[in-house]
Order: sequence, then C-alpha cells, then structure tokens
Amino acid sequence: METEIIRINPPDRKELGRAARYIQKGELVAFPTETVYGLGANALDGEAVAKIFKAKNRPCDNPLIVHISDQKMLEGLVTKIPQKAGILMEKFWPGPLTIIFPKSKAVPDNVTCGLQTVAVRMPSHPIARELIRVSGVPIAAPSANISGKPSPTQVEDVIEDLNGKVACIIDGGDCEVGVESTVLDLNTDVPTILRPGGVSKEELEKVLGKVEVHAGSAEKPASPGMKYRHYAPKATVVLVEGLQARKAIGEIAAHHMRDKKKVGVLVVGEVKTLRADAVMSMGTKSDEVARNLFRMLREMDRIGVDVIVVEGVEEKGRGLAVMNRLRKAASQFIIDNGI
Ligand code: TXA
Ligand code: MG
Repeated sequence: METEIIRINPPDRKELGRAARYIQKGELVAFPTETVYGLGANALDGEAVAKIFKAKNRPCDNPLIVHISDQKMLEGLVTKIPQKAGILMEKFWPGPLTIIFPKSKAVPDNVTCGLQTVAVRMPSHPIARELIRVSGVPIAAPSANISGKPSPTQVEDVIEDLNGKVACIIDGGDCEVGVESTVLDLNTDVPTILRPGGVSKEELEKVLGKVEVHAGSAEKPASPGMKYRHYAPKATVVLVEGLQARKAIGEIAAHHMRDKKKVGVLVVGEVKTLRADAVMSMGTKSDEVARNLFRMLREMDRIGVDVIVVEGVEEKGRGLAVMNRLRKAASQFIIDNGI
C-alpha cells in the first residue's frame, strides 16, 4: 500500500481534512500526540480497528486506548463516569492521563479485547485533537510502532516502522513528553496506576490522596499489555543503578569492547569521561530523560551497537515511567553501591 505522508506543523485545516477522510473510510492514520505517535482508526468501526492489530503485529489480547477531542464523545463510550474521574478529567485533560471506564455497547469488542472496561484519554496535542474533531469519531490508537519496539517520538520512527502498511502518516514534529500516558484504574479501593507515564504519581496523589502502582508480573500483568517484552531496541540493554553506577558503566562498556562488541552508553546528566562507541546524555531532569529515552534507544540501533549500557534514573516524576520502560527493555540488571 502507498502511504501518504502529510506534513503539518502547526495544524492546517485542509490537510487535516484529508487525514480525517482516511479515518472515516476505515483506514489507518498515524498521528502525533504529546506523548508518542499513535496509530489511529475509527474506534467505533471494528473492521478498521482490526487493521491496527495487523499493521503493528500486535497480540490480540492487548486492548487499545480510545482518544477523544471533547467530553461529549466520552458519553457515547462509557456507561458511568465515576466522581473521581470527573475530578481528574477537570485537572489533567487534555493531557497524558488515560482513565479506565465501564464500556458501553458502542465500543467494538476488539478495541477492549473482550474486557468490559475501556481506556480513554483526551490528548493535548493540537493535531491529535483536531484530527479527532474533524473525523467526528473517537479514535482508537496504540503507539505507532511495530509491537515490541520502542514507541515512536518523531516521524522518522513511524516511517521506519509503518511506511507501506498504513494509509497515512501525519508529520507533526517531535513529541514533547516522550513516554506514553499514565493508565489509571479507578475501579479499586485505592486508585491504581496500571502503567506509569506522563502524569506522575505525585501529581495524581495531590488530587486523589493515596495512589498505588500495580506491581505487574508476566503471570498477573497490571494492564493486559504489560506482560509482553516491550520498548526494546535490537541491541541488548544493560540497566545500571546504584551509587557507583557510573564506575560500573565504564567497566561494563570496556568489558564488551574488549570482546569486540560495539557499545553504546546512555547516561543521566553530564557525559564526562566515559569511553564507548557512542555516548549520549538523556538529560538531567526526569522530564528530559523521558523525552529523549525512546529516541536515543532507536538512535543506538541506527548506529548499530550490539550492547546499550543505560544509567538508571530516580523514580520520581516521569522517572517512574522511564524506569518502568527500561526494566522492560533490559535483559541485564546491575546495581552497584560500591559495597
Ligand atoms: O500515550 C499513550 O497512551 C499512547 C498515545 C498514542 O496516546 N498510546 C499508547 O497505547 O501507549 P498502547 O496501546 O501502546 O498502550 C495502551 C495500554 C496498554 O498497556 C494496554 O494494556 C492498556 O493501555 N489498556 C488499554 N485498555 C485497557 C483496559 N480496558 N484495562 C486495562 N488496561 C488497558
Ligand atoms: Mg505501545
């Protein structure tokens, strides 16, 4: 299939109209959101939604998030809006928070993979919101990557994964947040974060009081999607934490280079004197690290490194989401406290 690439930044009505027509015809459109790029289809059209799973090679038991442009759209998708949800919507929408609601019959079963709940969010990115508004329907959209790879935060990543597999890709520049939305379940006594993301636990606690983070495992995943290997570049990822993390990173990089491996290193803060084939800083603050993480993991693959040694970040603010993604991407974990 030929993929039409529409470049619009800032949003342009006429161009968006073309993209919206693909959605209305039941085709797939990749579009920017403030978190990561999404791969969208009309959420009320089961056949269109089925194309998402095919294009991404996504397992059929991993439900999708439905994106809306205004609160009126929510009413058609859910049977109840809990009071806490109302407060959260007021405070965090539009933005990177996904809330789980009891689903209405209008939502096709393949959107929720048979669950009686539906995940909904209102993105803040102007192109995403305008695309939904002009299409006139809610848009189901997972991240616009091939399943298992790091989520796309720039249009090049989407083109690399989906060119030729979808009707249209909208280029709206780089994503601001860089990690996906926070998925929150309100159907438990204490509100539970199923996937940490753009809205931090601390921010939610200011509004809700106590909030728990679901301790997911492969047997009992927090969200159905959390049991799969995820966010992983081709290279082997080694995650290094602890007081002596920097020293350990240097030693691990040297060890692999002696083995004739090509080594990439991702650190938090200044690069200083590390030696490797590619060394990059993801930034200092957790928001910067979140914004750069997926882009740099993909960049390391483009450079063709065999091993990526990554420095862990404190689990505060978006740091919680960063560490969640890194733990899923990594296959080796090292904690060096110098003891
Ligand atoms: O920021 C984001 O959330 C991006 C952009 C495109 O909006 N989307 C995204 O979608 O990350 P995806 O499909 O990659 O992740 C959706 C997550 C999965 O972990 C899935 O299991 C969970 O949401 N989810 C969806 N519906 C659910 C439900 N009814 N109950 C529990 N978890 C659900
Ligand atoms: Mg995803």
